Amino acid sequence: MERSLSMELVRVTEAAALSSARWMGRGKKMEADDAATTAMRDVFDTIPMQGTVVIGEGEMDEAPMLYIGEKLGTGHGPLVDIAVDPLEGTNIVASGGWNALAVLAVADQGNLLHAPDMYMEKIAVGPEAVGQIDINASVLDNLKAVAKAKNKDIQDVVATVLNRPRHEEIIAQLREAGARIKLINDGDVAGAINTAFDQTGVDILFGSGGAPEGVIAAVALKCLGGEIQGRLLPQSEEEITRCGKMGIDIAKVLRMEDLVRGDDAIFAATGVTDGELMRGVQFKGLYGETHSVVMRAKSGTVRFIEGRHSLEKKPNLVIKP
Ligand code: FBP
Repeated sequence: MERSLSMELVRVTEAAALSSARWMGRGKKMEADDAATTAMRDVFDTIPMQGTVVIGEGEMDEAPMLYIGEKLGTGHGPLVDIAVDPLEGTNIVASGGWNALAVLAVADQGNLLHAPDMYMEKIAVGPEAVGQIDINASVLDNLKAVAKAKNKDIQDVVATVLNRPRHEEIIAQLREAGARIKLINDGDVAGAINTAFDQTGVDILFGSGGAPEGVIAAVALKCLGGEIQGRLLPQSEEEITRCGKMGIDIAKVLRMEDLVRGDDAIFAATGVTDGELMRGVQFKGLYGETHSVVMRAKSGTVRFIEGRHSLEKKPNLVIKP
């Protein structure tokens, strides 16, 4: 992949964030998601690449845009696989909460796991604890491993968990162990990425969330030198059959090299609402401000980018409420 692709891809997440941010707190998650998807789709087609969506808004018959198999880009340039989540945290935007992101990940063709849209059990950490966690081990053992790797006590470790009834047992074990817990209402892509940034104060992510989000988070953690392990959690016979058809062994622990192969991949995200890592979109009259991060696995470069966008010159990026 060309390194200049990174900068092009930030324009995509910026556009999605600017468009969906208008819906903050308006209680309309579908509209917010549609706005992000439409803007993302528009900008993708200006980028010199031959991309195929492998993780997107759904199958061709259920999603009008950014569906799995859709071709993106100008039709010239590198052959790449694309994973998108135009609005990661639709409920977050609808309620004006924390950590909604417009996100995407790109890798050379064939290198991203084509994760089915179902739950995935996950455990994720930043670079200091790489190689120390084990999705098959207990919550306590993983906490001990992270505490040791980061040279702190378990009581100083902060674990992020989606606040869901299905995580009652994990939360009980974290409390029993004495760790600090950050319960999040949505957004486990941010939850996973935050483990790799000291300033977020988060050390480890536990619990299940979307499998597509797991692959996207894996690309980010690959760029950051962190680690995520996952295991698909099909909820029905139909989901089990789907995994079989896709050739995915549901018992297998999905490690970094299963989720994203090769030595190169690019991850880009723009904050839609404020989060620990980045601010959300700010509208300031004639312009909108965005805060993004873009990173590349091959070089390990992580760039935080602030954008100031003229809303007069690019009105199509913003829905007028
Ligand atoms: P959406 O943006 O699709 O609403 O997903 C938000 C999210 O919180 C993800 O971050 C997470 O992986 C998944 O939903 C968890 O699913 P559920 O809400 O069913 O627990």
